[in-house]
Amino acid sequence: MFRVNGKDKENSMTLNDLKHPKLVQWVNEFAALTTPDNIVVADGSKEQYDELIDLQVKEGLCVRLNPEKKPNCVLFDSDPSDVARVEKRTFIASEKQEDAGPTNNWIDPKELKATLTDLYRGCMKGRTLYVIPFSMGPVGSPMSKIGVELTDSAYVVCNMMIMTRVGVKVLDVLGTDGYFVPCLHSVGKPLAEGETDGGKWPCAPMEHKYISQFPETREIWSYGSGYGGNALLGKKCFALRIASVLARDEGWLAEHMLILKVTNPEGRSKYVTGAFPSACGKTNLAMLIPTIPGWEVHTIGDDIAWMKPGKDGRLYAINPEAGFFGVAPGTSSKSNHNALMAASKNTIFTNVALTEDKDVWWEGIGYDAPGKLIDWNGNEWVQDKGNKEQKPAAHPNSRFTAPASQCPCIAPEWEDPAGVPISAILFGGRRPSTIPLVHMSRNWNHGVFLGSIVGSEVTAATLDVKAGTIRRDPFAMLPFCGYNMGDYFQHWIDVGKAAPSQDVLPKIFYVNWFRKDAEGHFIWPGYGDNSRVLKWIFECCDGTAKTVDTPIGIMPTIDAIDRPEGVSDADMAELLKVDVAGWLREVEDIRTNHYPKFGKHLPKELADMLDTLEASLKAYKG
Ligand code: GTP
Ligand code: SPV
Ligand code: MN
Repeated sequence: MFRVNGKDKENSMTLNDLKHPKLVQWVNEFAALTTPDNIVVADGSKEQYDELIDLQVKEGLCVRLNPEKKPNCVLFDSDPSDVARVEKRTFIASEKQEDAGPTNNWIDPKELKATLTDLYRGCMKGRTLYVIPFSMGPVGSPMSKIGVELTDSAYVVCNMMIMTRVGVKVLDVLGTDGYFVPCLHSVGKPLAEGETDGGKWPCAPMEHKYISQFPETREIWSYGSGYGGNALLGKKCFALRIASVLARDEGWLAEHMLILKVTNPEGRSKYVTGAFPSACGKTNLAMLIPTIPGWEVHTIGDDIAWMKPGKDGRLYAINPEAGFFGVAPGTSSKSNHNALMAASKNTIFTNVALTEDKDVWWEGIGYDAPGKLIDWNGNEWVQDKGNKEQKPAAHPNSRFTAPASQCPCIAPEWEDPAGVPISAILFGGRRPSTIPLVHMSRNWNHGVFLGSIVGSEVTAATLDVKAGTIRRDPFAMLPFCGYNMGDYFQHWIDVGKAAPSQDVLPKIFYVNWFRKDAEGHFIWPGYGDNSRVLKWIFECCDGTAKTVDTPIGIMPTIDAIDRPEGVSDADMAELLKVDVAGWLREVEDIRTNHYPKFGKHLPKELADMLDTLEASLKAYKG
């Protein structure tokens, strides 16, 4: 029965309306285990979205923002312990530990299922079980995949309705026996008779949180967290961890990548994907406003790309998502106007600060806090700019959930079921030194090498690893690869081998917007000025760029990149220098701490490439 605010609703979907016996059976089994008070099917309607939001406003779980400033928007504050992905509580439960590889947490699937079954028992008492049929990718596209998430969180339902395509249209594609990836989720906070959440974000303590992927059976079991990638199971759990396994088996790539379209002044366009670790600039690059006259950038996606070889051998990409779960802090009309516009209505904000007139505010929004705020912990907060120790008003990993269709620079073809042909793939991370602004790989395998050695400063998007430390994050997939990362490197090499020729494959680049000077200031202005690097990349794809061959790869000549204001000759030289000593330290670190982890799973091509790099650095005269 579909019940909202305690009332039965007519004309709403119930379990009896589902025409897929296996789906119904699975829902009934999970309901028997978790004992919810009732079961609701998410039909994808605006009416249902509005009712669920109303329900949560009434329960004090979120506040409705000022309709004059942020129409149809709400703000949630999470529990202080539940603010980001929890990597230590994320598991790849393959039959064999070796198949999870050295970079994933492994638990035996039987043991994990037993533990989780105990936790799930009775966990939805006092709550509603929501059934969310969703499509990753445009509904009905040959590249799309269907999942069904069962959850006891209305917050998750509303977020999934923005982030994915949900409801009746998905059930139609599923038919009576279509395949779906089963995704179980509970916040892990059953309610006693008469108990309510009392306006508090429900979740379980850290040691009871489990974000589990079962790669062989393609199942997701999540427990204890309501936040982001832990709970919106279409995103990291399905579209990356499970999809990477499907992609390996089916010959395609599921990647933590933005997708953009760049158009030159003559009106010619190319499509580019880019993998940067969490909170390292994908959303910003995908939506940038070029500072070079005549150039344009449009967005296809900001976080995940599924790339599949087409009949012509080129890689075609779709964005499996339908919304942005974007980092709020640092987003201003100067840094990312398009993201602000996308999040100006019909948006869910989580863990940002609230102003007196019920608007949102966060650090780096581009203006001072207007008067007294309520911070993300629910406390009064008055900006004290003299106090460097002041705790931020918005959590560093606070986010907005906004429909992609609202982004002013969304590409008209963003939902093309055939995907868009990719010309260039970028890898990058936050590296204060050593890694230059941009360099290009010599060929596909060298590009795979560059992806495999990506390192980055850890950001607030990961709760349980210290922010600021540099770690290897190959392909920006460290927390997202559903199988042995060494085998994943091999899969990338195999995709290159399967192409009819090297010429149809995208060119691969390594970029770094985050070089710092001795005072700790960014040398490169970044954001819209990254269009200058995109221009050089565009020219590399056309074969017209000014380039110079170096031991690390193909680099721009010193005058090849249009220089933004404030970047001096010396700055540019620093940004494009081959730092031989720094790179030799890099080689040493990869050789001792990174590659050996993969043992026999490390492709020989990559080990050879490391030797070649070292030899050419040592022979380099500058
Ligand atoms: P996830 O959603 O976690 O996967 O992150 P993302 O890769 O989409 O990161 P996003 O674009 O949201 O950027 C995160 C942070 O990096 C924000 O605080 C930005 O202001 C900052 N940032 C983005 N691009 C640049 C840049 O070009 N230069 C500098 N210095 N900072 C940037
Ligand atoms: C990331 O951490 O890379 C994100 C946010 O995109 S989350 O969905 O929480 O994983
Ligand atoms: Mn991400």
